[in-house]
Amino acid sequence: MPSLKKLIAGNWKMNGSLESNAALIQSILDGDLRADACEVAICVPSVYLHQIQSLTEGKGLYLGAQDVSAHEKGAYTGEVSVSMLKEFGASFVIVGHSERRQFHHESDQLVAIKAERALASGLTPIVCVGETMQERESGATEVIVKRQLAAVIHLVGHCVTEIVVAYEPVWAIGTGLTATPDQAQSVHAVLRAQLKAAAGEGGEKIRILYGGSMNASNAKSLLSQPDIDGGLIGGAALKAADFLSIIASA
Ligand code: PGA
Repeated sequence: MPSLKKLIAGNWKMNGSLESNAALIQSILDGDLRADACEVAICVPSVYLHQIQSLTEGKGLYLGAQDVSAHEKGAYTGEVSVSMLKEFGASFVIVGHSERRQFHHESDQLVAIKAERALASGLTPIVCVGETMQERESGATEVIVKRQLAAVIHLVGHCVTEIVVAYEPVWAIGTGLTATPDQAQSVHAVLRAQLKAAAGEGGEKIRILYGGSMNASNAKSLLSQPDIDGGLIGGAALKAADFLSIIASA
């Protein structure tokens, strides 16, 4: 692999409060973000972007959101647009997280539109793909992740080099079950081949993160795989010591 900087992105999900956010951010900033070796981002609930933006300004921590509207503006009650996220300092936005696909019935097509919308406004989408346990057991892993990624590639065309992909096996999210480094690497290799088929050598430079119960003790072995370019971290991103230790492994 060329020396891509790894990306360690925290996904806070629907957690936090003004008080606990301030404490968590302070402890993260007190640690070593290893800016020479990696980029660190935290994807927070949109309502907290403003708070976190003011706490982290100029401190080398990137901000992201966890979802975005597929629409630009207008009568879409409850939605938040890419331009709003940008105004509050977001550089990244997660799209197609399995919790959105599962609980909000987001289709591959909708996820692709969100990715395209983000790219058009200069936000980097972190496009999540991943199979359920049932799909893995029936041997469908490859077909599922390729189908999910293909929808995005189809819509964004040559801009695919600007996305980040996150392979998150659904069965590993929040369960404490982690894909083994070999299991993860073999899916990452499939995704890498698909990205190279779409973008030529540019596909080597697209970061593919692993997500799903990554923690302080398994991060190093996962992050040392040739096609694992970072992590999308849920639970362990809520504890500064764990998050910093994952950053240290990168
Ligand atoms: P987890 O979540 O690290 O808690 O498994 C990862 C994610 O859902 O992004």
